[in-house]
Formats: sequence, C-alpha cells, structure tokens
Amino acid sequence: MTSPSHPVNFPASFDVLAQTYDQVFEDNPITARIRPIFWRSLLAHFKTGDHVLELNCGTGTDAIMLAENGVQVTAIDSSERMIAGAEEKAREKGVSQLIRFQQRSFEHLVTLGRMKFDGAFSNFGGLNCTSNIDPVLETLSGLLKPHASVVVCMINKFSLWEMVSFLLRGNLRSAFRRMRRQPTTVRLGSSTVEVCYYTPKEFIRILSPYFEIEHVYGLSILSPSPNSRSFVLRHSQLTARLLRLDETIRSRSPWHSLGDHFVIEARRKS
Ligand SMILES: C[S@@+](CC[C@H](N)C(=O)[O-])C[C@H]1O[C@@H](n2cnc3c(N)ncnc32)[C@H](O)[C@@H]1O
Repeated sequence: MTSPSHPVNFPASFDVLAQTYDQVFEDNPITARIRPIFWRSLLAHFKTGDHVLELNCGTGTDAIMLAENGVQVTAIDSSERMIAGAEEKAREKGVSQLIRFQQRSFEHLVTLGRMKFDGAFSNFGGLNCTSNIDPVLETLSGLLKPHASVVVCMINKFSLWEMVSFLLRGNLRSAFRRMRRQPTTVRLGSSTVEVCYYTPKEFIRILSPYFEIEHVYGLSILSPSPNSRSFVLRHSQLTARLLRLDETIRSRSPWHSLGDHFVIEARRKS
C-alpha cells in the first residue's frame, strides 16, 4: 500500500531479512556493544510491573530483555516473519507470558484503541522507516499515561564515522547519501525501503509538541558503526579504545549529535 506523498514500506521488505536478521545484526560485534547501552536507558525508565509498547520490535531482542526484568511488553512490527521469529525466541527464553507480539504497523497505532501504556520505545531506526512520522507520534502520545517515558534510537542524518570513512575512500556520493532528499530509497536485499534521516535537532523538533526531552546521546560517534564489520575485525584493540572514548563523550555537545545513531529519552507531556 503506497501513496505518492507518503510511501508506506512494504512489510515484505523486512520479511526478507527476518530469517538471517539475528546472525547478521545481533552477532555484529558493534551491535552487540551498543544494544546494551540502549538497554541501560530502557532499564532506567521501565520497571517491573510496567506495561510498555515497543514499535518495530524486529526479532524481539529488546522486548525479551525487558520481560526478563519483569516488564510486560506489547511489541508490534509490520513484518510477519520478524514477529514469527520474535515469538519463537520468546518461547525459547521462557518469557512468552509477559510479551504480546502483534503484526501491526506503527502507522496503524490507532487500532490499539483505548490502551494506556506506562511507556514506549523504538530501537535501531524503525521510526526512520516512515515519511509520515508526525501522526505516528501524535497517536503514540495518546496511548501513553501522562509523563510516561519514551526511548527512541534513530539513525542519524549526519554520521561522523560513516562520512569520514567514505571520504577517506574517495566515495563522495556515499559520504553524503543520508543528506539527499528525504525520504531516501535504501536497498534491503532484493527489495527497498523508504528511509527518512534526521539530525537529533530535527527529531527533537518533531517530538516536542508531544514530549519533553530529557536526554540525548550518540552511538558510534568515534567508534565504528555497525556497517564497519571488517574494520572492527581488523582493528579490534583500536575499536575497543574508541568504544571507551565514546562512552565518555556520548552525552556531550557537539558529540551527542554526531553518532551513527542517536538515542532520545523523553516524557509524554501532561
Ligand atoms: C532495523 S530493524 C530494528 C528491529 C529491532 N527494533 C531491533 O532493535 O533489532 C527495523 C524494524 O522495523 C520494522 N518496521 C519498519 N517499518 C515499520 C512500520 N511501519 N511499523 C512497524 N514496524 C516497522 C521492520 O519490520 C523491522 O523489523
């Protein structure tokens, strides 16, 4: 289902990734180092007994971690195969009773009806996959209790690491690929998705009507982005040092705006 002004990504685009997602993405040495940083934010905001909504849950890794910490999660994703993989993983981990996985687009949040969640989150750029973000955030805010926490991890429009690494290889076109007209078409295997990139400042402006911003930080600022797998394998000690450096600068200006991804912790306005 697409419309010329607001193309909606076909769930099938991510269906093709679902089977190998955990091998390609979860076992990526950088993803493995940055996901726990996002988890610190989740665990700082959500506690045992809370019921939170996850948008674009993928194969359910974050929902499972929260369930293991006693948090109840309604986890949605538009991809049928991602949801099937997530359900299987939750069963294997013995936490199915705390997670309700649903195949549903976050563009159809309104169909969740009158539910009121204690919080919501979205990891690894799922919310970059729509060119019509405003109604998603407006509907989301209506599904949350006053002052409920929201934690989102977005793909940054300006990734220092990616830009410098493409420029050093003389690849000018790729260095600026995220800055082209939005949405940008990104290839996913044999299909494509429409992606909108934001700087933290741009995304904060979009969130502001509904949410108070509490904290912004960057991921993969001076350390390699998840796409730089071969660099990480060749330079493991340097990577470890850069990861430690990121830890000290990630919340500081201007570094918090220069990561490959950024995380925003916010609260629903009352
Ligand atoms: C990069 S993955 C991130 C998955 C997961 N959050 C993680 O941390 O591994 C992006 C996910 O967003 C989902 N997605 C994309 N557009 C969506 C939409 N409109 N509604 C719900 N999920 C969507 C995809 O199916 C995919 O599982």
